[in-house]
Amino acid sequence: MNILITGGAGYIGSHTLIELDNAGYSFIIFDNLSNAPTESLNRVEKIINKSIIFEQGDIRDAQALKNVFLNYSINSVIHFAGLKAVGESVAQPLKYYDNNVVGTLRLLEVMQEFHCKKIVFSSSATVYGDPESSPIKEDFPTGATTNPYGRTKYIIEEILKDLCVSDPEFKSVILRYFNPVGAHESGTMGEDPNGIPNNLMPFISQIAVGKREYLKVFGGDYATHDGTGVRDYIHVVDLALAHVKAIDYLSSEQFSREHSIFNIGTGQGYSVLDMVKAYVKASDKKIPYKIIERRAGDIATCFACPNYAKEILDWEATRTIDDMCKDSYQWQSNNPDGYKNLQENNGSFKF
Ligand code: NAD
Ligand code: WQD
Repeated sequence: MNILITGGAGYIGSHTLIELDNAGYSFIIFDNLSNAPTESLNRVEKIINKSIIFEQGDIRDAQALKNVFLNYSINSVIHFAGLKAVGESVAQPLKYYDNNVVGTLRLLEVMQEFHCKKIVFSSSATVYGDPESSPIKEDFPTGATTNPYGRTKYIIEEILKDLCVSDPEFKSVILRYFNPVGAHESGTMGEDPNGIPNNLMPFISQIAVGKREYLKVFGGDYATHDGTGVRDYIHVVDLALAHVKAIDYLSSEQFSREHSIFNIGTGQGYSVLDMVKAYVKASDKKIPYKIIERRAGDIATCFACPNYAKEILDWEATRTIDDMCKDSYQWQSNNPDGYKNLQENNGSFKF
């Protein structure tokens, strides 16, 4: 029995493959390579020292999905596939609703057709919008999202809840990730954004290796300890391990649909300047910065209450911000151009 991993060539998916393999699970990867190179999968193979099965395809293509279900025995799905750039989702909302929402509908229809009724879904803290307070608990209000990307995550969560009501055999686990950062400790895998990074950590990493000049800190006047935005950064390997626990849980006697939505964070909030300081310490590089105006749509503070994941999934983050910065820097300095220098152009991945 295999787990189908949609979006498995991407940043979080590829790290999760390693932890699934360590835990003895087998899997099939399904990805359209719109935001990932196959080189990430080559690196996974080197780390786990075995070949993996990759099928290139789009989750909106029902026939391509059906072929995978016909060719392999699949009993559960981890659904990472999706577009994730907040700014792009504001400029091109239909692209995001089509890819993320329509794509998920196609996937769920095919799963139903093949009686595959277990799914772990990559949701996001973005479903909480601008929360009243932090730490954020899972029962805080959701839906007042600040951009189309966030709305796709909220809509998919609602679709999953409705599906589980309609079909008592269908089981979903929704993981709401906070801010995933860091890289595999081997230094051979990590985050490889296209173009100018939107997110803080990859931007800082590119400054550390001399690819960017300085960091624009978006806002120095938030009501936080130093005026800059506070987030819950989580090491990608800790996040990957949460998926293993979620898959274990889906198949366990303990599973209950009342307990199926989890915050995946550390419970610690760090500011932009805290992150800069930690990165300087980990890399011994200078990270020049300038504080500029706030970025539209940003919130002051967002960090998780992760107690529920600990209690029910027996999962908690163990890696510190020093680990996150050290591993990010090791990845970026070993691979200043990410996976691109080795990637053959497959026609869909932009250089
Ligand atoms: P990523 O872009 O690195 O990985 C997503 C993968 O999905 C890519 O390999 C891409 O090629 C693939 N994909 C996209 N659309 C597809 C489609 N229609 N059919 C098949 N494959 C498709 O992103 P990531 O950071 O690894 O994120 C994984 C998931 O976690 C996404 O759903 C994202 O929204 C969610 N998430 C990410 C973050 C974050 O900050 N990285 C935070 C919260 C939630
Ligand atoms: C973190 C902090 C910025 C860049 C986003 C998505 C969210 C989720 C994770 C998918 C903020 C500041 C950033 C820079 C800066 N993704 N910053 N200069 O905005 O918390 O979350 O990624 O689900 O949905 O919105 O992450 O890394 O962009 O920002 O000052 O160049 O760093 O203002 O305070 P964010 P981020």
